[in-house]
Amino acid sequence: MKRRNFCQAAVLIPATNIILPTKSEAQAADKANEAKKASKPAVPKAQAKSGTIRQGISAKEADGMTYSDMSKPSGKSVVAGGPAEKTDSKPYQMPLTQEEQDMLGGSKGPEMAKLMKILVAHGNAFGADKLVKLGGRPHSSMYFGTEYMASLIGIFDEVAKAGLKSYAPYTVNPRPYDAYNVNNNPTDMQLIYEGYARQRDVDWVHVRLGSPDLNYRSCACYVPEIGNAPKPGTYVAWAESSAVNYGNSALGLRTNRNATGMELLCAIVGKAPRFGLMTDEGRKAKWLIDVKTSKEPDWGVIGTAIGRKCVEDVPFIAGLDSYFGGKITNENMHKLKAMGSATASSGAVGLYHVEGVTPDAQQHERKLLLDGYQTYVIDDAEQERIRDTFENQWTKKDHAPTHCFIGCPHNTYDEILQWGTNVTKALEKNGKKEAAIPVYLFCANVVRDHLVEEHPELVGRMKQAGMKFTNMCSVSYAGMKGFSERVFGVTNSAKTRNYSTLRYFPDDVLLEIIVTGEIPKNA
Ligand code: F3S
Repeated sequence: MKRRNFCQAAVLIPATNIILPTKSEAQAADKANEAKKASKPAVPKAQAKSGTIRQGISAKEADGMTYSDMSKPSGKSVVAGGPAEKTDSKPYQMPLTQEEQDMLGGSKGPEMAKLMKILVAHGNAFGADKLVKLGGRPHSSMYFGTEYMASLIGIFDEVAKAGLKSYAPYTVNPRPYDAYNVNNNPTDMQLIYEGYARQRDVDWVHVRLGSPDLNYRSCACYVPEIGNAPKPGTYVAWAESSAVNYGNSALGLRTNRNATGMELLCAIVGKAPRFGLMTDEGRKAKWLIDVKTSKEPDWGVIGTAIGRKCVEDVPFIAGLDSYFGGKITNENMHKLKAMGSATASSGAVGLYHVEGVTPDAQQHERKLLLDGYQTYVIDDAEQERIRDTFENQWTKKDHAPTHCFIGCPHNTYDEILQWGTNVTKALEKNGKKEAAIPVYLFCANVVRDHLVEEHPELVGRMKQAGMKFTNMCSVSYAGMKGFSERVFGVTNSAKTRNYSTLRYFPDDVLLEIIVTGEIPKNA
């Protein structure tokens, strides 16, 4: 079964697809792309129905979902070779070690046996060649406590009660609300406490399974303040699309784009089935993207262009090395973060290579290109053409902007330092103390704290200017009931634009809007 087809029927659900508000319609340019994407994951009946927490799946349900070597009367592995197509007469079964088979049989308890059954079924469905040991640290995208998450939360509650833990301390996506800095008003609080009634359950599950305190919650788990940046070549099983995309590409990790829940399941078992982006072959590029813009590209726009073109294929991107000086640093990592998250949200890119910059490309160079690869040139005209497809999705097209969102994926230290410096300087130049609209800087608390420690005076001026730090997820906030009638937001995040009604502008235009409260005529 092809990966794309399987995703449409996946039991565990990609996070972004669950929480996102339905955008009225995709742009014309998105249509072909959307048709290719698995955009509507099937929601199993048990999950679609709201109700009490289901305490995990029953053994019968687990049996019905799986094919395992232990299903065979002999208890022996029936497949010794590598991946094979599943057929009706003989479903593919990946080989398992004796220890893994024993785990399926309950050697490490009934809860671990259930997790193993799901993991094996997952690997069989994708033709995995084996289970591999995971390294580094996990990252979970199970972060929102909505009713339809009840059964998934219930599974991991059962796991926690059994005393199981992740193989290493792990990081988690940002929470979906922030009742201290943004949602601290009666309307928002009613909405969040009704909408995220299971948030306590999610947080409690994570604490018991091995996540650190809430100050470390972030989708950009790889920034130095959080430090989840394993060595190149490490097998991990992450799910958050932007973290998978950055981890595979900029860090050289080996992970598939897992569904929410599958990443945590792998973290408890400490293993993942190897297929797709975890293999040498699966990391090869079907596309050569030739970036020929006359100046530094708009990272969100070219990322969108690449995502729409490649959809789930791996691109090899040339023409960007001069913007990185030969290596990825704390000061330039946000460029890859912005571009990559756009490829992952406008398409489903889980890995890209940047010539001369990213680890795989540095090691293998153009040998990463598959025979018969296609070429896509992004020059100034193509960049402009893509930008022009970004429709104004505001419910009142001519409304003045009311809010500015910066940081999806979450900001790095360097980004909040630059935005703080640029906004306060621009205000001073225009004789103002306060921005025309509130500016939300989305980042982990520990990233904010770093800036407070290094530049306390600047942070003071940023607060006076109306800049707020918040550690929640921007898209979750933009998905709140009634948001698009109340908020006419602007952003520099192509991912936020893709999943909400916010309008996208490049950094220099955004700065002007922050100062004046108006959208420049030529923008
Ligand atoms: Fe992070 Fe939420 Fe954006 S998890 S990448 S801020 S959608």
